Amino acid sequence: MKARPLLPALAALALCCTVPASIAAKETGPVNQTKQAEAAHTRARALIAQMTLAEKAGQLSQAFAAPFLPPLDDAVAAGRLGSLLFVSDPARINQYQRVAVEKSRLGIPLLFGFDVIHGLRTIFPVPLGLAASFDPAVVEQAQAAAAAEARASGIHWAFAPMVDIARDPRWGRIVEGAGEDPHLGSEMAAAQVRGLQGPAIGTSGRVIAGPKHFLGYGAAPGGRDYEPVSLSDAEIRNVYLPPFTAAIRAGAGNIMSAYMDINQQPAVASNWLLDDLLRGELGFDGFVVSDANGVQNQVAQHFAADEAEAAQRALMAGNDMEMALGPNAFARLPALVEQGRLPVAVLDRAVERVLVAKIRMGLFEHPYVDEAVAARVLADPAHRDLAQQAAERSLVLLHNQGGALPLKPGAVRRMAVIGPLADSVADTLGPWVFVPDKAETVTVARGISERLAGQAVVTVEPGVQLRRAIPSGLEAFGPTQTAWTEEDRQARFAAAVAAARTADQIVLVLGEAQSQSGERASASDLKLPGEQLRLLDAVLATGKPIVLVLIAGRPLDISAILPRVPAILMAWYPGTRGGMAVARALFGDVNPGGKLPVTWPRSVGQVPIHYARSLTHTPDRADSLYHDAPSTPLFPFGHGLSYTSFRIDPPTLDQPVLKPGGAVTLSTRITNSGTSEGDEVVQLYIHQRAGRAMRPARELKAFQRVTLRPGESRTIRFRIDGAMLSYWNASERRTLLDPGRFDLWVGPDAQAAQLVPLQVE
Ligand code: BGC
Repeated sequence: MKARPLLPALAALALCCTVPASIAAKETGPVNQTKQAEAAHTRARALIAQMTLAEKAGQLSQAFAAPFLPPLDDAVAAGRLGSLLFVSDPARINQYQRVAVEKSRLGIPLLFGFDVIHGLRTIFPVPLGLAASFDPAVVEQAQAAAAAEARASGIHWAFAPMVDIARDPRWGRIVEGAGEDPHLGSEMAAAQVRGLQGPAIGTSGRVIAGPKHFLGYGAAPGGRDYEPVSLSDAEIRNVYLPPFTAAIRAGAGNIMSAYMDINQQPAVASNWLLDDLLRGELGFDGFVVSDANGVQNQVAQHFAADEAEAAQRALMAGNDMEMALGPNAFARLPALVEQGRLPVAVLDRAVERVLVAKIRMGLFEHPYVDEAVAARVLADPAHRDLAQQAAERSLVLLHNQGGALPLKPGAVRRMAVIGPLADSVADTLGPWVFVPDKAETVTVARGISERLAGQAVVTVEPGVQLRRAIPSGLEAFGPTQTAWTEEDRQARFAAAVAAARTADQIVLVLGEAQSQSGERASASDLKLPGEQLRLLDAVLATGKPIVLVLIAGRPLDISAILPRVPAILMAWYPGTRGGMAVARALFGDVNPGGKLPVTWPRSVGQVPIHYARSLTHTPDRADSLYHDAPSTPLFPFGHGLSYTSFRIDPPTLDQPVLKPGGAVTLSTRITNSGTSEGDEVVQLYIHQRAGRAMRPARELKAFQRVTLRPGESRTIRFRIDGAMLSYWNASERRTLLDPGRFDLWVGPDAQAAQLVPLQVE
């Protein structure tokens, strides 16, 4: 049987469904978590004592309940399911819940999960874009708003954040995470968990956060989704684990295990990963869910002989709940217990974890949602404003020659907004969007038209059409797009060129369509897909002033474009108010201040090209390792320009030596040396000069985004202690701090040049 990952298929639903009502969710203060957890365990054990083996297996079984799938009411009534995913309509959620509470023997409520990745009805920038904000506070607020919409709708649990480190832009799911860096990834992971879940599990108006995919999914070789991954222990500990550690410290109540095999064992069946590392070392005390069909996939992966063995191995390894489309493999758990192949204590342990989550979420007291309240929460204008703010903060100004940007609104009389992404709602929202408000989505064309209303004539032309992949078997749910005829193709292209010719300013909006990014959307080439380059050539040939806006979920190969256009603004998939954010940035109402969360390669041949690599024995030749290309990236990690300029003074330390157990403070002064208000992200990188292991040439360890008026200065301080400078050493199999010299750099990106040495004792 073929592995059946589901999401892209369901992503097709993105724009099809309507969302109504939910519950009022008021913020409460922090609760006494330990006491609450103990009481929940006691209550869960009392329930377990009354349960049959089949009911126990039911609590561990989660099924897809998307509107286009057969209804699951009977299975819920029979106690065969404990959780549903992919239902977001509060009325339908209430119906299902009523069946669970009123018809099942023990009346245990269902837990509803959903992929609330970057919003539910209000769509925020994709997670890679949110990471580009280098602003954990805005990311936390965005996820809190997403949680409010979800919880009001009856959803209790978000399959988010995705905290997989991704260093290969060919991997489509790079869009779902925070990029390549463990420190930035950890900050974003913790911020998202705080936003989604609040101070404690069960906080009103929040949902359980489920960081995923444990572990190493982002290391897919060649960027090929689901491919087996090989990772050394040092890479696991120093690169892939830190964002999970941060998410768990922030209190995440759930973890999703990964699909692929890691070091020759499916992650879903790895005792070492799920029991020893996750629960033992990291102290995770929530419940673990498999990825969709991940349990059964062990058979397809030729690891388990049959579904029963797959169920047994997944549960024994530490998975508690099985997510599945179709019959759950966990339905075989009772027989396994009866045959003596599974200790009942292992089953009970998993059931207890799931019930504790339900109890802590208050489901037994409040199983239903108020549909009228949901309607109000989903329509909350404050969420739309936050979406705009988050989009504005996520914009990265890649390139701006001769101050081509910002445009002067008064000087534009005839504007042409050209490109297949210029006015596409789906592509403005990006992947992992299921029930957005389409009518409210502001595309770049709409944003520019609104911004220039009454001042200029705005013409919008797509020029070319992008291919939209619809997952096989689910064509019926795909975005409706009729392929242009050859005649249309020529006419639309000509119309775009004509619009360019008569314009006095062109904004070209190019990149990737929604379905060209995300799960099962790996790319073998990073060039602009389709006929976009041809369009760019034709539009450039008009000789009219032009700026380029990129909409995409990964760095693209723009090496050939860069010398030909004066300004490039990276907008990611910017979300519900993304087009307004872009328009405001283009006209200088906001000053872009986002930074790249991922190194931007010159071409696909340079991949992987993350910045935190170790030195070779010829460090001086590192920039010329290819005979046919430079080995430096097009833009470094952390890069992002501004309409103003900044000066960062050489850093100083309050003491030149870090004593055991102590801390030093690094200070640097930053000044806005330009003429407009703007943001800079001051970044601290470290490097260990000698020690018991090779360490990366640079590692980001802290950052701070500041807003400064022209002429304004601020002193930035970073605290440096042993924990910041230590790493996991593979020979000694423990975390170490090596004494000796460390280089500390501060600057605006990973090529930061201001250095101060620190001696560690
Ligand atoms: C993805 C998960 C997602 C799940 C449920 C899977 O295909 O890998 O990240 O949460 O589907 O939609």
